[in-house]
Amino acid sequence: MNTETKTSSMEVGSNCPYAGYRLMREQSAVTEVQPGVYAVTRYDDVKAVLSDPQTFSARIGDNKSFAFFGPSPVQDRIDEIMRDYPEEPVLMRTDPPLHTRVRALVNCALTPAEVRKIEPQIQTIVEELAAPWLQRGEVEFSGEFASLLPNAVTTSFLGSPPAMREHFRFWAHEVMSRFDGPQSPERQLEVAQHIVDMAHYFYDEIEARRRQPNGDLVSLLAHAEIDGDRLDNPSIVNVIQTFLIGGHETTTFTLGNSLHYLARDPDMAARLRNDPALIPTFVDEILRIESPTQSLQRSPTRDVEIGGVTVPAGALLLVYLASANRDENFFAEPDTFKFDRIGTNTSRHVAFGYGVHSCLGLRLARAEVQIALAYLLPRMHDIKLAGSDPISYINNFVLRGPIRLMLSYAPA
Ligand code: HEM
Repeated sequence: MNTETKTSSMEVGSNCPYAGYRLMREQSAVTEVQPGVYAVTRYDDVKAVLSDPQTFSARIGDNKSFAFFGPSPVQDRIDEIMRDYPEEPVLMRTDPPLHTRVRALVNCALTPAEVRKIEPQIQTIVEELAAPWLQRGEVEFSGEFASLLPNAVTTSFLGSPPAMREHFRFWAHEVMSRFDGPQSPERQLEVAQHIVDMAHYFYDEIEARRRQPNGDLVSLLAHAEIDGDRLDNPSIVNVIQTFLIGGHETTTFTLGNSLHYLARDPDMAARLRNDPALIPTFVDEILRIESPTQSLQRSPTRDVEIGGVTVPAGALLLVYLASANRDENFFAEPDTFKFDRIGTNTSRHVAFGYGVHSCLGLRLARAEVQIALAYLLPRMHDIKLAGSDPISYINNFVLRGPIRLMLSYAPA
């Protein structure tokens, strides 16, 4: 592998948060950003927090998603609607030992071999989604490709037909809508009904696969077994729900960030075209420098000291992966894209989290982005940002990435 250093420094995008993270890292191990809300921003502290699930619980509040902005006045009616699917978290937002058990069962389904098996499907989907615009010479990359790929791949992995893609997108949106801001009681009841519709769809799918497994993810989850222990139907739906949500925007943003950086650095694009073996390295450095999941949430189970600062039990801890990934005490020249960190420490970025909850879909995510870039780059030459306002970012304090990216290129 060519180890010559290729660098390009880009601090771009609206509300760029990185200078703020740097300031927090310099000033203190922990910053109280609001009363009762604490930010952890240094690489070593982020890893330490995520390594200790007993002290730093992933359960936040009472875990009732409809109560995120305060108790719901219609919680009883929501519980009634959701009695078939109470939406008890079994993976994210849980702690050992429940988490350990479920994670082991899900791991049986998401092995490297299973991901390798669906790579040809990913390739086909990439080609299908690029076909409508590839010869056009310009594209709104986020809307016309990056946001469609993860949803299409998950639909295929779950063994559902392309006609279900829209439903999955809608259900994922409904699940997440509860965190956008307070909802009216009527809207909460509507959302509860949509979530139960999703559960019923998958209950039918699970039962069908129990009778006749066909190797898709639903079959694998339905038949996953360790010493006679199996996942029940609501747990399987909860895991699938996590996949539909956890794998969507994160992968979309990684694709968008990749094309954004390549549009601004034609030499780097040429290098990847000439040597596609460098693509995995490129993707990991993109994940480090532009981490889609900026922060995770944890809550201390006891008063605990982090770098000399005491954080009280029950506080909300924002664990900033994106800041850890630019910590100058760990990464040399952290604000610079460096192609050849691999083999040094790029691979130790924490964009996929760390510890017991670290991303279960990372192989799938890497495969999606790598296959897409390997297909698109030889077919898109001279990639440039197009127009006077080519990029907009999502307005969200947890996630960061482009939701609109205008590109022009010479079709090859
Ligand atoms: C570039 C894309 C992705 C990024 C940056 C990413 C990031 C993360 C992060 C930071 C976590 C840790 C959450 C925590 O500790 O609370 C996580 C967990 C998880 N991710 Fe991903 N993710 C990506 C893609 C995917 C995909 C494609 C899937 C599946 C289809 C997926 C499924 C999951 C699941 C199921 C968990 C929960 C694991 C657990 O709680 O044990 N992710 N991801």
